[in-house]
Amino acid sequence: MTKSKDQITQIPNHVAIIMDGNGRWAKKRKLPRIEGHRKGVNNVKKIVRHASDLGIKYLTLFAFSVENWNRPKLEVDALMQLLLRFIKSQTKEMKKNKIRLGVIGRIKELPSKVVKALEKSMDETKHFDHLNLVLALNYGSRTEVLDAVKSFSTAFKNNEESIDDLDWNRFSNYLYTDNIPDPDLIIRTSGEKRISNFLLLQGAYSEYYFTDKYWPDFHEQELSEAIESYKKRERRFGKTGEQVNTN
Ligand code: IPE
Ligand code: IPE
Ligand code: MG
Repeated sequence: MTKSKDQITQIPNHVAIIMDGNGRWAKKRKLPRIEGHRKGVNNVKKIVRHASDLGIKYLTLFAFSVENWNRPKLEVDALMQLLLRFIKSQTKEMKKNKIRLGVIGRIKELPSKVVKALEKSMDETKHFDHLNLVLALNYGSRTEVLDAVKSFSTAFKNNEESIDDLDWNRFSNYLYTDNIPDPDLIIRTSGEKRISNFLLLQGAYSEYYFTDKYWPDFHEQELSEAIESYKKRERRFGKTGEQVNTN
């Protein structure tokens, strides 16, 4: 009996999105970059709702990278302000729709108001599981690996870990994504075909989808198209096509 049909038609369990192109969206309209970010935040709300309707269980959104601190201070401050407003205004909505909020990244380095709002929202939504919304904030894969190595080393010094028993499964417990399954589909908007330090290890076997649409223009229809593309792919995980197509 073939099982490929089931596998192929499955909706991805975890979709991760590199939300890129806010600045260019604004520039095209002769608007300040911040307007693009504002539009981008509105789009986040729509995409979260649509992902939830589609039955996606994990949605990770790359909202601020460790490298984004290098942008002009005015833009960074505006992004933090938008983030704060988003968390504060959306917690009620998340509770209503049974969405659990999670974060990955060096969260403690964010402005304290943002940290507090995130912690409050995560606490208030921790019992929900209709959709897990994960915000990647002050996130970068390389700092994630460094942080994981440091935490592992501390555990090793405390005799809680052994080198001989170390395998990927064990090591991955020290990543920010502990308890979050690997992404099945990683989408990047805006036409750039690069990963920009996002989920480098977790994406080892993810399917990638690149679209020219700027993030504020990546609407429900575009997410559905990305998922249709995903469904047509055959994930082999190192095996042969014959192996994954037969029981
Ligand atoms: C993505 O849009 C949002 C963040 C990185 C915070 P950009 O701001 O990178 O938009 P472009 O790439 O300049 O168009
Ligand atoms: C990646 O976009 C980060 C986010 C979407 C938050 P960037 O716009 O920062 O990436 P680069 O600099 O073009 O690679
Ligand atoms: Mg960009």
